[in-house]
Amino acid sequence: MVIPATPGIKPYATSQKMNETETLTATPEGLARAAAILGAQGLVAFPTETVYGLGGDARSDLAVARIFDAKGRPRFNPLIVHVPDMASARTFAVFDARAKAVAAAFWPGPLTLVLPLRADAGLSPLVTAELNTVAIRIPAHPVAQALLRAFGGPLAAPSANPSGRVSPTRAAHVIDGLSGRIDAVIDGGSCAVGVESTILGLVEEPALLRPGGIATEALEAMLGPLATGGNAEKPNAPGQLASHYAPGAAVRLNAQTRLPDEVRLGFGPGDADLNLSAKADLIEAAANLFHMLREADVLAGRGGRIAIAPIPEQGLGRAINDRLRRAAAPRG
Ligand code: TXA
Ligand code: MG
Repeated sequence: MVIPATPGIKPYATSQKMNETETLTATPEGLARAAAILGAQGLVAFPTETVYGLGGDARSDLAVARIFDAKGRPRFNPLIVHVPDMASARTFAVFDARAKAVAAAFWPGPLTLVLPLRADAGLSPLVTAELNTVAIRIPAHPVAQALLRAFGGPLAAPSANPSGRVSPTRAAHVIDGLSGRIDAVIDGGSCAVGVESTILGLVEEPALLRPGGIATEALEAMLGPLATGGNAEKPNAPGQLASHYAPGAAVRLNAQTRLPDEVRLGFGPGDADLNLSAKADLIEAAANLFHMLREADVLAGRGGRIAIAPIPEQGLGRAINDRLRRAAAPRG
């Protein structure tokens, strides 16, 4: 596919005959270029406050199919639809009083709501994997907001990494995993939250489908105890696959000590090659998690081993431990 060039910018092609992935700046020119690529059903990775997303037009079967192809993602995993505001969100999903209250409290931000899909939503059925529900998120990141407004439509966006690998929190991580497979990445620096959004199902009883950037406790304070959905054998959220977010090296969790030849990823004071947070701050640890897993992987080398210090199971620690358990799971 050849997409008309913005004046002064080289034309490029997507699909099988992919040129180099363009790195765009978060400037009006870069955003205009990104919007033109998305308008031609191309793929653009962009920063959100959680992780970088791989965006494509959520109304276009072709764009959405390209996302699955670029990631090598199993088709049964539906994607999150990103919108700039509530007015847009309400054109795709049905909000009951509960959903409106949660949205008012936590959006824009690192929360995704799974809600009944509107019959007239007009989304590609590939986005929802033909379910009658849809996952929606209003990201807070100014570059994500600016891109959604420049594009003027909903963006389907999974994390911008090959399926099953560590999620990207910097533009360079996106290039590492997907260079040549996507049209462009907008460089917006490091992601502040560093783990993916919390996914809350509000179709029936409130259900925690994936722990993430909003602490479970904050949602439970509003909704009462949450059911926990999900089953690793039959995932309805890819974060629920047993082996996911996996680095190349073997991972040992709750490591109190370092064995010979292990790279130690610490938390809190003490001896470590890399430390998620020397001051034992879970928010700082979440922001460092995926970047440091990549660094530890490089330090460990081929066939190497990473030992990770215990992380408290509270606040963002739940999301961190969820990702670490999957990183340590036997590889399928
Ligand atoms: O922070 C994030 O959520 C990032 C950024 C880019 O927004 N996105 C992200 O997307 O993590 P992804 O594709 O890696 O995860 C989307 C999750 C999956 O676990 C998927 O199964 C779930 O959302 N999901 C999507 N639609 C759903 C639905 N209708 N019902 C249940 N789960 C759904
Ligand atoms: Mg992902």
